[in-house]
Amino acid sequence: METQILDVAAVRNQFPIFQQKLPNGSPVTFLDTGASAQKPQVVIDAERDVMETHFANAYRGVYQFGAQIDDELEASREAVRRLIHAEKSSEIIFTSGTTMSLNMVAFGWGSKHLQEGDEILITQMEHHANIVPWQQVAERTGATLRYLPLTDDGVLDPDEFDKFITSRTKVLSVTGMSNVLGTINPIAELSKRVHDVGGIIVVDAAQSVPHQVVDVVADQIDFLTFSGHKLYGPTGVGVLYGREQLLQETDPILFGGHMIDRVYEDRSIWAEPPAKFEAGTIPIVQAISLKSAVEFVEGLGFDAIHGHEMSVTHYAHEKLNEIPGMKIYGPPVEEKGAIISFTLEGAHPEDLAQLLDRKGVFVRHGHHCTMPLHDLLQVNSTIRLSLGVYNTIEDIDCLIDAIEFARQRLRLV
Ligand code: ALA
Repeated sequence: METQILDVAAVRNQFPIFQQKLPNGSPVTFLDTGASAQKPQVVIDAERDVMETHFANAYRGVYQFGAQIDDELEASREAVRRLIHAEKSSEIIFTSGTTMSLNMVAFGWGSKHLQEGDEILITQMEHHANIVPWQQVAERTGATLRYLPLTDDGVLDPDEFDKFITSRTKVLSVTGMSNVLGTINPIAELSKRVHDVGGIIVVDAAQSVPHQVVDVVADQIDFLTFSGHKLYGPTGVGVLYGREQLLQETDPILFGGHMIDRVYEDRSIWAEPPAKFEAGTIPIVQAISLKSAVEFVEGLGFDAIHGHEMSVTHYAHEKLNEIPGMKIYGPPVEEKGAIISFTLEGAHPEDLAQLLDRKGVFVRHGHHCTMPLHDLLQVNSTIRLSLGVYNTIEDIDCLIDAIEFARQRLRLV
């Protein structure tokens, strides 16, 4: 098979945001895709087109605009199905984002199926959206919340799997890729182990879906969540995938219009999924435009995306490691995805981020919504670079120059 190569200049040209200079004349060096990705013209155009030419509410009108909106939503649902290799588009639910999707699993499935003596297993690298809902469900059901430990390298410790994944484990909820360490988790293996003990697996794919092939059938994933805005798509829309049988066994957590089949004065009967989980007016424009984002990444191809992003990640590791006082967290670059978190001795991450910003280099600093992980790393805050399809070697050179500028300002040289 021919190896796909990413033409990064052509990709970058598709993003209007990069066709500008900042007020100080510097280019935009955007290294915060893990927080939210920039938008290609096709996604911007898709949103505009719906609003300018045929907007209407969804699943309510038989008139022309209404019917077109319904068709486009179903086409987008189908595109998401294809992206994650689900069997049926009815297993794809549009939500407001990963946080909502995870809450829907924790409360809709967890509250119904968990009880005292059961264990909810997450990992020490989870983002707050995959911790706090489970804490709440544990408190309400009496189930125990446990954390799969990490090695010093920031990967899940396989020697601990047997100890933690037991017949008490009813659910394992795990990120596909750490939003801080870049660690890529062995989902297929975890899935097999948790199924062997009779539990289910939930994958928070917010960070992995933009970078790698996700296959819910091959990896036997029970629930999977991600956000549109991290996949070069619109904000306000996300996805919850659930295996058909599990969606039947999950309660909705939001009640109202469209999610019902029949309402009586004293009770209601739910519609079939996905409607059962899409109460009220969903983010119509955003859900339709998500299709363009899916087609955008599919058009580039995940081999090309991965190859390109990892070559930039390797280069960044190499250059950052040459800087005195640099500490990079997480596994070796060969074993991770396109995220790098670091601290620089003598520089507070917030000060450093502000100085980088003066050079047009945009990075995230702080705990990145992973306080327990930062407690484990024994730091309050790190700087994080998270790369996307548009990042270049020149971006990393700009970063390195900006760090040098910051080191001088902070009198570290
Ligand atoms: N989860 C997003 C991040 O890691 C917001 O930045």
